[in-house]
Amino acid sequence: MAVRSLEDLIEREGVKGRRVFVRSDLNAPMHEGRITDDTRLRASLPTLQRLRAAGAHIVLASHLGRPKGRVDPALSLEPVADVLGELLGTPVAFASDCVGDVAQSAIAMLGDGDVLLLENLRFHPGETKNDPAFARALAELADIYVNDAFGTAHRAHASTAGMLANIAAAAAGELLQKELRHLGVVLEPERPLLCLLGGAKVSDKLGVLLALAQHADVLCVGGAMAYTFLAAQGQPTGASLLEESRLDDARRILAAAEQRDCRLLLPTDHVVALQIEAGAKTRVVSTIPDGWIGVDIGPESAQAFAAEAIKARTILWNGPMGIFEIDAFAAGTERVAHAVAESAAVSVVGGGDSLAAVHKLGIGDRIGHLSTGGGASLEYVQGLELPGVAALEQ
Ligand code: 3PG
Repeated sequence: MAVRSLEDLIEREGVKGRRVFVRSDLNAPMHEGRITDDTRLRASLPTLQRLRAAGAHIVLASHLGRPKGRVDPALSLEPVADVLGELLGTPVAFASDCVGDVAQSAIAMLGDGDVLLLENLRFHPGETKNDPAFARALAELADIYVNDAFGTAHRAHASTAGMLANIAAAAAGELLQKELRHLGVVLEPERPLLCLLGGAKVSDKLGVLLALAQHADVLCVGGAMAYTFLAAQGQPTGASLLEESRLDDARRILAAAEQRDCRLLLPTDHVVALQIEAGAKTRVVSTIPDGWIGVDIGPESAQAFAAEAIKARTILWNGPMGIFEIDAFAAGTERVAHAVAESAAVSVVGGGDSLAAVHKLGIGDRIGHLSTGGGASLEYVQGLELPGVAALEQ
């Protein structure tokens, strides 16, 4: 079922002078109280700008980090209000609590087009527990609900799902709609569909690996998770990161790919080092020797993965091919990133590390879609229902 669009809501309900609760994902990386990457804040702007133009009283809410239901000053959203105000070109007010009198009185001060950011939703345990009383307290703050938090759409929390039961009108924001549209292309792709998956652990991406082995035409596996696959095939992996408990899962994924004629490519050569640190001695090998750690896919593998990217019509990339934060271990990830950018395929890139690689190389404008949701995008392309979207559909 299609979710209602923000535009439809504005046209039919009218939002001028009305309190609109906007759930965004402003969970941006922070260091010592400063935002180090404002991608998610920028991505939230179109919905806020549209609602401002329509004269809504905007009650903006988000989580930041995982404070486990307790107030943690290091995870306050207050610094986010300032940066968001700069990006929006208008001050964003801040309420030091997301429910109750503090929030209610700050909302009462809003004029048409004003924005108020509420304090971190996860300072209350009821948020992640999807507690009905907390969900009601949130719903009392507004007349209308807009979900724009794609990055949190895979969580059934009070602000993403529970509060919808107590709200008369709801819609999907601009970002949420855009993400669903672009990721939907991976679900119904122009073929060949190439999926490039990397990252540390098979266990983090088990479901998506299995689902994509049954959906993609080509699946390239890099990053440390590739060593678990190589070990499952009986190949030596030296001192590389390995998930012994996932060897059977890796075999299951290899078998699923084979059964469906999905070509699952593993690295055929590797950059190895004796220590994981900048300046460590490295070698390129086709078989990982005892005591050496795999830190990146080798040049031959990078070339093979890049060639698949050029042939593909649709590409999904999630996860780095090596420990790309260290320059000497970054070549594989960079080669793959450039190939995705050069390819004429429709491309979707998700996951914090892959996005960081794209930004570092300055090629973001040559990628079809940069998803703001790591976990959410992987759940969506598996064909799983996202609770945040399901709640809107109901
Ligand atoms: C994310 O960064 O993936 C989202 O903001 C969701 O955060 P969470 O994994 O803590 O629920």
